[in-house]
Amino acid sequence: MSELPKILSANWGKPNSTKLETYLAAGGYKAAEKALGMEPGKVAQEVLDAGLRGRGGAGFPAGRKWTFMPKDSRPRYLCVNADEGEPGTFKDRDIMRFDPHMLIEGIIIACWAMQANNSYIYIRGEFAEPADILEKALDEAYAKGYLGDKIFGKDFSLKVWVHRGAGAYECGEETALIESLEGKRGQPRIRPPFPPQRGVFNMPTTVNNVETIASVPFILKEGVAAYRKYGTEKSPGTKLFCISGHVNKPGVYELPLGFPLMKLIAEVAGGMKDGMKLKAVIPGGSSTPVLRAEECQNVNLDYESLAAAGSMLGSGAVIVIGEGTCMVKLLEILARFYAHESCGQCTPCREGCGWAAQIAKRIHEGDAEIKDIDVLYSVGEQMLGRTICPLADAAACPIMTFTSKFRAEFEAHIKNRGCPQAKAYPVEFK
Ligand SMILES: Cc1cc2nc3c(=O)[nH]c(=O)nc-3n(C[C@H](O)[C@H](O)[C@H](O)COP(=O)(O)O)c2cc1C
Ligand code: SF4
Repeated sequence: MSELPKILSANWGKPNSTKLETYLAAGGYKAAEKALGMEPGKVAQEVLDAGLRGRGGAGFPAGRKWTFMPKDSRPRYLCVNADEGEPGTFKDRDIMRFDPHMLIEGIIIACWAMQANNSYIYIRGEFAEPADILEKALDEAYAKGYLGDKIFGKDFSLKVWVHRGAGAYECGEETALIESLEGKRGQPRIRPPFPPQRGVFNMPTTVNNVETIASVPFILKEGVAAYRKYGTEKSPGTKLFCISGHVNKPGVYELPLGFPLMKLIAEVAGGMKDGMKLKAVIPGGSSTPVLRAEECQNVNLDYESLAAAGSMLGSGAVIVIGEGTCMVKLLEILARFYAHESCGQCTPCREGCGWAAQIAKRIHEGDAEIKDIDVLYSVGEQMLGRTICPLADAAACPIMTFTSKFRAEFEAHIKNRGCPQAKAYPVEFK
């Protein structure tokens, strides 16, 4: 396989990769220096021209999001979303634990572009190691004058804090994150107003994913054309893919967008575990529609190709499902996760997630009727588009796609009065 481009993971594996001196030796903080010599609006325009899309899941253009910040005199905030709760996703953790200065430099550039003087990195509580590493890196950046008052000799101050969450998936949703940051229960807000109008402490706020922000220094340093050299016309650049499940080499891999899904599985991730046959793939985290093996064949890992295949790039979490895996049990596990994580504000979500988990469990145990499969599907259908935040849509996605794409398997459980594969699981399910 030809050499893969390295932008986000360029420094991973180097000795002392988390240290400022290592980052500086690789040309670090040159992009921030350059950006602070430019008009803030021009910096946002560069990021827009590069075509960088949000890596937290929705894929919204980062440069455009920054221009939503009002130009009034109120204080503004950048919140970096390091909650990383989407099942299957573990890429932001590696940015923070292997190259924290790349993220900090991205924060400086983004804050300059939006003229924000304060930034919070909201990190999930379980990420104790990356949080400690980040705090040490922030100390180094303050000591060097990259953060604090009058940074890079400009009349511009920037303070950055690491804020540890308590491990709720819902606190990754941007308005729940803001509530949690303010010390309240992590429940999403009704929009409008949107965060750029009223976010943290009711002030203009932009929320961006860790990987989005860490992609920014390369764009400023090397330029739009260098970034666009990778990826496709509509999905430029590289992306971190976290591949998990039945492959020989699960892990985080940086790939140009548009990379073939089957090549990721067969070559980059070392092929299917124990020579298993591929059964299905959830390509972008558990909230994206599952693809059957035959639907994966000519799919590329970019926003457009996955949409054309009926799924989504999401957070880039590729969950590989091998032959012999019980899709009913898998759905039960996912539904239970969403039921546990629903914040409970909206009836379709609070009730729907709970009922879906119960029905999936009954089907798995064979204690159900054929019509329960339709009830399960309709529970998902009724959750769609009716709630304050997209968690309900995310939960509905596996419910609807598993029951429709693997219906025969659901029926077999009911006819068999239990899981036909109960004794033959290749993996232990709890
Ligand atoms: C239930 C839920 C959980 C989310 N969790 C995360 C997360 O852990 N990290 C993240 O960056 N975005 C998460 N998001 C998306 C954020 O709301 C937001 O769109 C994102 O942080 C924006 O960053 P981006 O534009 O750079 O992608 C989540 C959304 C929902 C509905
Ligand atoms: S959709 Fe679910 S998680 Fe989101 S606000 Fe409503 S109840 Fe809470």
